[in-house]
Amino acid sequence: MNMPTWLKNAVFYEIYPQSFYDTNGDGIGDLQGIIEKLDYIKSLGCNAIWINPCFESPFMDAGYDVSDYCKIAPRYGTNEDAKKLFDEAHKRGIHILLDLVPGHTSDKHKWFEQSKQPEPNEFSDRYVWTGNAFDYPEGFRMMSGMSDRDGNYIVNFFNSQPALNYGFEQRDYAWQLAPDHPACRATLEAMKQVMRFWMDMGCDGFRVDMASSLIKNDPKKTGIKRLWQEVRSELDRDYPDAAILSEWSCAEDAIDAGFHMDFYIHFGSVGYNVLFQTENYDYVDRGKTVKCFFQENGEGDITVFLDEFLRKYRYINGRGYMCMPTGNHDMIRYSRRRSEEEMKLVASFIMLMPTIPVVYYGDEIGMKYAEGLHSKEGGFFRTGSRTPMQWTDGENKGFSTTKGDLYLPVDGRKDAPNVSEQEKREGSLLQTVRAFAKLRDEEPDLQAGGEFEVVYGEKEKYPFVFRRGKFLVAVNPRGTDAACNVPKRNYRVCKMIGSAELNGSKLNIGKLSLVVFEEEIK
Ligand code: GLC
Ligand code: CA
Repeated sequence: MNMPTWLKNAVFYEIYPQSFYDTNGDGIGDLQGIIEKLDYIKSLGCNAIWINPCFESPFMDAGYDVSDYCKIAPRYGTNEDAKKLFDEAHKRGIHILLDLVPGHTSDKHKWFEQSKQPEPNEFSDRYVWTGNAFDYPEGFRMMSGMSDRDGNYIVNFFNSQPALNYGFEQRDYAWQLAPDHPACRATLEAMKQVMRFWMDMGCDGFRVDMASSLIKNDPKKTGIKRLWQEVRSELDRDYPDAAILSEWSCAEDAIDAGFHMDFYIHFGSVGYNVLFQTENYDYVDRGKTVKCFFQENGEGDITVFLDEFLRKYRYINGRGYMCMPTGNHDMIRYSRRRSEEEMKLVASFIMLMPTIPVVYYGDEIGMKYAEGLHSKEGGFFRTGSRTPMQWTDGENKGFSTTKGDLYLPVDGRKDAPNVSEQEKREGSLLQTVRAFAKLRDEEPDLQAGGEFEVVYGEKEKYPFVFRRGKFLVAVNPRGTDAACNVPKRNYRVCKMIGSAELNGSKLNIGKLSLVVFEEEIK
């Protein structure tokens, strides 16, 4: 299989387009805004961008309810703007992934409008319908009585998101079609056409929403793997430089399925949460709550993360990657219950791991999770992580020139972090992200894949120390000093946050510290 070479040193930046930068003063971010900020993104050390869905939509789920896959939502601009964005990004060596939502559409999509009709037509089986409106088998989330067509339809996420029909691997009812049924094949072919449409325009691939959800009744995941392997082989043949990144959160399955990368995130496994999530995600191991590792009170257990992560890493290494984000549009921001010092450790750690780093817009300055907002566009608790980017300390924090309402209220507090302040302040979170992204870019040993050896990672102990080629990395996110032994080598300090000292094989590392040693080969 083909592997695009740009992934090895990729550092992604995730953009929620609504809230990034508004250039026409209507209070909502737009594609032109992304174009104007490409130099900023580049300056962070990010060389790839993932944009949340920017297609026509009624926005019942922030755009994850697409009503036209091949049209940019007018509020963000036009398809010409998208083309310009790809071109401008490429001039700067930046790759762009769009967000593909193949599992469901909006209930306002024209395919669904057709599918709802009682007269059989080309789109009747594009979605999953039962035989009649009183046919209500258990185990499926269904909408009933919503159309003149006599049947219930399955929804994939919210009720506004009917599931597209790619078939059932195991079939119990007549209305469950086989994946190779012509109607299911037509769904897949239509989705491939959507991918081709954007790649022909210059996009570099896709982040794939709910990637494992397409084939139903597929306990062994054989159907869904077959489906994506087929897509991958066409990519390898026709778009060898394009990449697909799954929201699957099971790297073993996703890489087997043919994805180049899979997210290592807050669901599907425990590792991400026991590393980073300070709340709501407590992991209980044999009756005991495991606290997260990156927390000042220092009650975390790195081994819970390592047991899982190493298993995944060994399984996929050499065939694909995991992507480890600072956060995303579905999680509470990592700034909640963290100081700037603590965030620096998370951000720099992510840059040093053998996974692909993803910086969620605003996390590079430690934007706050906005408490108590009303839900916007199906965000619910997620809304607080989707507020406008804070560029300056001026009007609307530099996000928009509008005098009217913004998409969401901006963090108006005087001390709200902003880009221009952190650009000027030495050692700021922003500067730290830059410095570590730069180091990663310069040093192949620190890039995705390759060597990752645990040097010190003990149950309920700090620090955590690992080796990546000629580099030794130690991190102590706890509020007290820590120490351990490491193999004796000719190490010199390459980069440091806080304090650390290496005497022979004895490593002392201060509280809230991270150090990168480089072995000097004589
Ligand atoms: C994914 C997206 C999330 C969306 C859901 C339904 O989890 O990240 O934002 O609501 O899929 O498409
Ligand atoms: Ca705008």
